[in-house]
Amino acid sequence: MSAAPIRVGVIGLGTVGQGVLRLLKDNAAEIARRVGRPLLVTHAAARDPAKPRDCDLSGVSVVTDPMTVAREADVDIVVELIGGISPARELIEAAVGRGKPVVTANKALLAEDGNRVFAAARRGGVSIAFEAAVAGGIPVIKAIREGLAGNRIERLAGIINGTCNYILTQMQEKGQSFADALRDAQRLGYAEADPTFDIEGLDAAHKLTILASIAFGMPLDAGSVTTEGITRVTPQDIQIAQVFGYRIKLLGIAKRGDAGVELRVHPTLVPETSLLAKVDGVLNSVLVRGNAVGEVGLYGRGAGGDATASAVIADLVDLARGLGADPSHAVPALAFQPDAVQPLPVLPMSAIASAFYLRLKVADEAGVLSKLTAILAAHEISVEAILQREPQGNEDAHVALITSVVRQERFDHALVEMLRLPFVREGAACLRVEKFD
Ligand code: HSE
Repeated sequence: MSAAPIRVGVIGLGTVGQGVLRLLKDNAAEIARRVGRPLLVTHAAARDPAKPRDCDLSGVSVVTDPMTVAREADVDIVVELIGGISPARELIEAAVGRGKPVVTANKALLAEDGNRVFAAARRGGVSIAFEAAVAGGIPVIKAIREGLAGNRIERLAGIINGTCNYILTQMQEKGQSFADALRDAQRLGYAEADPTFDIEGLDAAHKLTILASIAFGMPLDAGSVTTEGITRVTPQDIQIAQVFGYRIKLLGIAKRGDAGVELRVHPTLVPETSLLAKVDGVLNSVLVRGNAVGEVGLYGRGAGGDATASAVIADLVDLARGLGADPSHAVPALAFQPDAVQPLPVLPMSAIASAFYLRLKVADEAGVLSKLTAILAAHEISVEAILQREPQGNEDAHVALITSVVRQERFDHALVEMLRLPFVREGAACLRVEKFD
């Protein structure tokens, strides 16, 4: 084995950056045996180089200006771990422009501006690897892009935001309100001080954008994902869903049909017997269905320093093995050859069919159920399950039901009519149901 190490520059020494340094050191021998040469972090950039960190920085030149690392002649591969669009984009473009391959965990940048940065990498004759951008330590990019390359991928669905999954699990298990579960998640470091990105589903939408692109061979377009977060999920809906035999999970769903693709992130009822229903706490899981292999499921830690570092280092190993190789032989970034990546029509939500969960607050009077079901029947929507809850204390009664599979357009027409009934109060809840059959 040649002794000359491959020199790595790490931009960002936060939780993941420190994990990368630790793991490269702890597993150095194994990694060198895999690559054929050692991987050595020689340069790093951090806002405060002097801050105490949980990794060994001896022998590493640590600077404050990340651009000096991106441009450093003595760095072979750059790792970008600062997140956000700018200056991450400029740093990656500077590195690939100098012929340095890049590893990034930056889902926001790739989902929003990935077509541009991948084009810059192609011009530079190098790759940008991004396993850590989706589902942390779970090798979902490699599985879809390489392991399932023989399939036409029909659909994928995943729990791809650990923060939301933790909050929903707490609400389920402890009956907590959304606000209390969020506060716990923040106290434990699972949710940011400003949790908007996670709880509004934006982080999951970025990850879904990347997954859909490599699954279907379409360009990255974060704007095409319909996104709804978990802030309006109530413990009451979680309990009623449970009575119906379902769990509520924030899912990212991408499906390909004859008319186009569905790209959506929203709280979803999933059967309690499904694999995704059993994924609790901060864990992530992605199910992919290929036309040859059928259903494939991946499960594991979607965040955290060591888990995410595991994915970063897998990318480093891949890029290190390919250093100096003909770039046209590299695995294409988006799984399909760049000239074969094609836009696909994205279906509006109104055209998407699924079963629906509906909970209505109603006055406690005779004829409520028959009037509601009459409206549904008039729209040819059948009811698969229905439950009436007695008024509790000063509260109104509730009627909750699950419909058959129906296009949203049709369900919406029925819903408008139901909401107009004089006994229906404000405060309806409406969620999609996915059965994966
Ligand atoms: N904030 C993300 C999550 C982890 O909660 O899953 C990083 O993508």
